[in-house]
Amino acid sequence: MITQRAPNPFNPGSPVDPSDFVGRVTELENFKQKLMQTANGSLANMAVAGGYGVGKTSFLHKCKAIAEENNALAIYFSLNEIDDLSKERLAAFLIRRVKEKVREEMILDRLSNEIFKIIQRIKIKAENVELSLSEEDENAFPNLQSALIAAWKALKGAKKAIIFLLDEARVLERNRAELLLYIRAVLEQLQIERIPIMILPAGKLTITGPAGTGFSPLVRTFQPAVLENFSREEANAFITKKLQQAGVEIEQATFEKIYNVTEGHPFVLTAYMNSAYSRLLLEQTKLMKAHFEATDVDFVRSDLAPFFARFYDEAGRRSRKILSVMAEVPNGEISLSELAKKLERGMNELSPHLGKLVQDGSIIRIDRGKYKLFHHLLGEYIMNRQQRNNSEA
Ligand SMILES: Nc1ncnc2c1ncn2[C@@H]1O[C@H](COP(=O)(O)OP(=O)(O)O)[C@@H](O)[C@H]1O
Ligand SMILES: [Mg+2]
Repeated sequence: MITQRAPNPFNPGSPVDPSDFVGRVTELENFKQKLMQTANGSLANMAVAGGYGVGKTSFLHKCKAIAEENNALAIYFSLNEIDDLSKERLAAFLIRRVKEKVREEMILDRLSNEIFKIIQRIKIKAENVELSLSEEDENAFPNLQSALIAAWKALKGAKKAIIFLLDEARVLERNRAELLLYIRAVLEQLQIERIPIMILPAGKLTITGPAGTGFSPLVRTFQPAVLENFSREEANAFITKKLQQAGVEIEQATFEKIYNVTEGHPFVLTAYMNSAYSRLLLEQTKLMKAHFEATDVDFVRSDLAPFFARFYDEAGRRSRKILSVMAEVPNGEISLSELAKKLERGMNELSPHLGKLVQDGSIIRIDRGKYKLFHHLLGEYIMNRQQRNNSEA
């Protein structure tokens, strides 16, 4: 019998389909609870924080699916799509996405044409337009909150809540979190009339701040779910689920190795599995240790290079020097004083660079004055890059 293998189920470049989503149990529970509170008219928002490839977009897609199962109007979009973001543009964008979403739902027969027509007329008055010109237009609202209230009034017979899922939301934190504060103010206005709208920003957010930095009112409104690497159980569940669908088996003894190589980092894990899977020969139906060993040879250099480049190649000169030192020490772990000694620089001079590296996600602060590369394979990548640079020079 000639069978064809299922297409590679591991796609490091795209968020996971909500039905294949694994783990994050506490964070999802948290979201479900917020969703219920929102539907009941309480102010209940959250944020999703975490580094590149840890699963933020996948998490938002999952939340979107859950919201839709619960009959909410769920609107996902990435703030990457808007450049030069101001309050006005953000407000206009949110309303535009409500209209697009309602249009989709109308086409799918999930919302009526009546609702669609009311929603399409809603707009926000531009600040610099003469009031007298638009005064007669009862659908031009003075601000985002009043436009959202109007949208909700049209939707409320049909939907339980409106949930905005904003990906790549780090821009909201610019200028002392100006836009995040604006959103919070809007939400507080909506709360007065118990309008069930939730806004969930996700990204490499810093609203959490380092532990113990004290009271921040933004944290209260946007309680962050911080996504970390998968645990061993989550990683194994991930592997098993995907392979089962593809009808491919796996040698149990490889789980240990896979976790040691990938540390359960969702992107790295997906890329590693993708690479090993692609090495299966036509007649093979089981992933074996040998497939992973073959992957190890150039996994970092080829599969992970585009992912790691942002952390090293795109960093400044001084940051690259710091990263290079960290790549050479055991575990990629070093204290500020050791680093200062190795680089023959003052600690004061290095601190801001370390802060920036932490913010960019290339290193993590593990303790006071102690830092570590965010992934051990980044160290390997940096060593490879240097060897190449040296041989080119
Ligand atoms: N909970 C999850 N279950 C299954 N796969 C996941 C999960 N989270 C992330 N992934 C996978 O990890 C990779 C990175 O996830 P992504 O959501 O794009 O991360 P981020 O948005 O944080 O950069 C993707 O290939 C995605 O399919
Ligand atoms: Mg993403």
